[in-house]
Amino acid sequence: MAQIGYSKKVLDHFTNPRNVGVIEAPDGYGKVGNPVCGDLMEIFIKVKDDIITDIKFRTFGCGSAIATSSMVTEMAKGMHVDEALKITRNDVADELEGLPPKKMHCSNLASDALHEAIKDYEGKVKDKGLTK
Ligand code: FES
Repeated sequence: MAQIGYSKKVLDHFTNPRNVGVIEAPDGYGKVGNPVCGDLMEIFIKVKDDIITDIKFRTFGCGSAIATSSMVTEMAKGMHVDEALKITRNDVADELEGLPPKKMHCSNLASDALHEAIKDYEGKVKDKGLTK
């Protein structure tokens, strides 16, 4: 697989993905579809005092989608929501030591679903009249 441009880190996260699953009654939930390939990604977060204390993902995407979402969950866990909102697909790809150019669209799923989950959380906080 190395000859088609996957780093060791991508292969590691693809074969041994971290934080796969579902969180019941999450504080934030994000679901996005990839317009390029039609694949889907869901991210669930638990948040305490604006810190992401737990995060899980579920995807109907390809190997790169699995690797990028595994990586984004590791990056975001323990992070303040404002910082996690700044994680871009390029940050995720950099942490994975690169993705083949044809696969960069896959990393949109991971970062976009994370951002959606955080926005969902922030909406709930506002609905409850709590300040962030
Ligand atoms: Fe669809 Fe990678 S080809 S997420």
